[in-house]
Amino acid sequence: MKNFVIAIDGPAGAGKSTVAKIVAEKLGFLYIDTGAMYRALTLKAMKKNIDFGNKEELIKMAENTELKLYQDAKYRVIMDGEDVSEEIRKEEVSRNTHYVASIFEIREILWKMQRKFRENSNIVMEGRDIGSKVFPDAQLKIYLDASVEERAKRRYLQLKEKGEIADIEEIKKEVIERDKKDRNRKIAPLVKLPDAVYLDTTNLTIQEVVEKIINLYHQKLNSSG
Ligand code: DC
Repeated sequence: MKNFVIAIDGPAGAGKSTVAKIVAEKLGFLYIDTGAMYRALTLKAMKKNIDFGNKEELIKMAENTELKLYQDAKYRVIMDGEDVSEEIRKEEVSRNTHYVASIFEIREILWKMQRKFRENSNIVMEGRDIGSKVFPDAQLKIYLDASVEERAKRRYLQLKEKGEIADIEEIKKEVIERDKKDRNRKIAPLVKLPDAVYLDTTNLTIQEVVEKIINLYHQKLNSSG
């Protein structure tokens, strides 16, 4: 099968990136993190001091941005020739991404870029609207979920590992807030699609989730002859 798409959607902290990267590696597929693209545009707006209420400016900025995602020893995001892979992960960027993500014209620009990745490759793409908007015809759609408590705990452990002080209750509040923004926005909200396989990872290891997805992929291949 050519140009196979495994679309992985779900809320923040469900383990999408970790799982998607391993699945892509095991299958020899290209891995694309669409959240990184929304983050990169947010970072650029912050650096240019563009008011997040100024839609016109934000759209103009997005139209004039070159984004490249590629992989050497690690996954890199290059914006206008500069490696922003680390910077886009900052908390401040996470907090502001919803402004950019709720502008239709900006999503259209990114959708176009995202669809191009399929032209020459099989891909694993993760985000919020991959199965619903980017590739409604994806051969395999996964909705990855986990309880709010579990997602807050994972985030807490991540921060602790980085040596950052974190308050689990505070993190839980942020997780709930981010879910609300992802699910309730008018443009391309996070939805559980009827044709997506729902995987609750709360009590599963990364390895178990990866295996489930790879099995589903093989089932799809077999059933399509
Ligand atoms: O997956 P992430 O946390 O890196 O995503 C960052 C932000 O971008 C988050 O606020 C949701 C948004 N996003 C989106 O609206 N659509 C996508 N396909 C991916 C991410």
